[in-house]
Amino acid sequence: MIALGCDHAGVKLKNFILNYFKENNIPYIDFGHFDETSTDYPIYAEEVCNAVLSNKCEKGILICGTGIGMSIAANRHKGIRCALCGDVFSAKATREHNNANILALGARVVAEGLALEIVKAFLSTEFSNGENHVRRIELLEK
Ligand code: RB5
Repeated sequence: MIALGCDHAGVKLKNFILNYFKENNIPYIDFGHFDETSTDYPIYAEEVCNAVLSNKCEKGILICGTGIGMSIAANRHKGIRCALCGDVFSAKATREHNNANILALGARVVAEGLALEIVKAFLSTEFSNGENHVRRIELLEK
C-alpha cells in the first residue's frame, strides 16, 4: 500500500501518478489535498508519515511545488527517511543506500513523465541491505 499526499501545487502531478496506480492495480491511500485551493504542506506530510510509521502503508509519496517543504516536514518524523528526487538515478540510489521510505517530488520542477519514471524506480528498487548502509541508517536513528 502506497500513501500519497500533496498540497495545492502537487494536485495535478498526484492525479497523474494516481492514474498510473489505477491502471496498474497498485494499491494506494490518497490523503489529499484534493483540489487547487491553497493549503499547507505539513498537514499532508504528517498524514503520510503516520501511515508509513504505523505500517499501514509500506512507502509514501509527497508532492508540493518544489518538494522541499514536504521533505523538510517529513524528515522531522523519527523513522522517516524522505528523499527529494529530481532524477531516476537518485530515486534508485536512495532506495538502495538510504532505504528511503518516502519520496518527495517537486511538481513545479519535474515534468510528469520524468516524475513517473522516478516513482517507478523508487517503488521497484529494494534496499541493498549492505552492512555499511545498515550501520549508517542505524546511526540516523540514534
Ligand atoms: C506553495 O506555493 C509552495 O510553497 C509549496 O508547494 C512548496 O513548494 C513548499 O516547499
